[in-house]
Amino acid sequence: MLLGVCGGIAAYKMAALTSTLVQHGAIVDVIMTPEAERFVGALTFSSLTARPVYTSLWDAPERIPHIRLVREAQAILVAPATANTIAKLANGIADDLLTTALLAARIPVIVAPAMNSAMYEHPATVANLATLRARGYEIVEPERGFLAERESGVGRLAAEARLYDALALALARRASLEGTRVAITAGATREAFDPIRFVSNASTGATGIALAREAALRGAEVTLLLGPTQLEVPAGVRTLRFTTAEQLHALAMEHAVGADIVIATAAVADWRPSERAASKLKKSDDDLTVRMVRNPDVLAAIGERKGETFLVGFAAETDDHEAHAREKLARKRLDAIVVNDVREERGFGTGENTLALLWPGEGRRSLGTAEKSILAARLLDAIEDLRRNR
Ligand code: CTP
Repeated sequence: MLLGVCGGIAAYKMAALTSTLVQHGAIVDVIMTPEAERFVGALTFSSLTARPVYTSLWDAPERIPHIRLVREAQAILVAPATANTIAKLANGIADDLLTTALLAARIPVIVAPAMNSAMYEHPATVANLATLRARGYEIVEPERGFLAERESGVGRLAAEARLYDALALALARRASLEGTRVAITAGATREAFDPIRFVSNASTGATGIALAREAALRGAEVTLLLGPTQLEVPAGVRTLRFTTAEQLHALAMEHAVGADIVIATAAVADWRPSERAASKLKKSDDDLTVRMVRNPDVLAAIGERKGETFLVGFAAETDDHEAHAREKLARKRLDAIVVNDVREERGFGTGENTLALLWPGEGRRSLGTAEKSILAARLLDAIEDLRRNR
């Protein structure tokens, strides 16, 4: 466990939490910002953890402690998180050991703000916390009560039990898919009818990428079959690229068949142009007719070779959502299907989304409206529950 202690009066409370964590068997490393050292001594933490405390990039016994610290830890808790450290984190600033380590972290990061209520409610802080949330950081909200300024307001560091639970949850989630092979299809297909023109759709692959990242965080061995997109591929995930539905079909037969869990988020073109001209079609005054032929249904093809795979599809619908989704659930032999409302392009891109999960026998769980990273965590929670009860 890695604790990042910033310069706020609540820094003293971290000594008690450190002791609790150690008593429960955690190995705890502590990074303090220079300001934190004005409130508590490093000796307090090193006495509790029986390990060195890290306060600077420069006086550690090794050259790159920030990378080792975040690689060895399974989760990081930043508490108390000051407005300043939250702002730096939201903007990618790395000017001390803690912010440098946080920028290098690929493990769950929990942020517990504590500050004066005016600072907490300032639009800058509100926006910075929203940025962190959207990136999948867990925020443990401060509590209302007596503040160091001898006034009452929101801004007190969350109680120790809440901080402890947030860490415990991050660890439990992390290990939950260890040894599980997960294959995810994501993004749009492109079906060309000449060297520069194609038929496609608005899918960016964001949902599949968020699921791949979350599954990898939970310890799964993840293969992501990803179409054309500008979005970055997640770290720690084996990513294989496709352009057309036929390429995706071939990749899926090789890499998705036989996986423990398959989640099909790709927006696959149902038809492709029957022919692809060898050179660019020249413009004429005539209308253009492009004959379209059927593409393979990748998900149905995986369904036919299902075996023990837990198979999850997505249904992008504009009307009669759940009825259409249930029909696909049965037809494609799925274990569950996610319904996604794509009216007016909602659901495409990186914004918020509203999802529900359906499974045979009238099973239904609403996943709510949230950022895709949060929905990805809720969907994997639901899939894990369903597999456990299967
Ligand atoms: N899918 C697929 N291959 C296709 C079409 C769809 O793998 N050729 C998968 C999608 O990834 C998704 C699910 O099937 O998980 C449902 O996709 P959707 O487009 O909603 O359904 P379709 O079967 O294409 O039905 P329709 O277009 O009639 O709604």
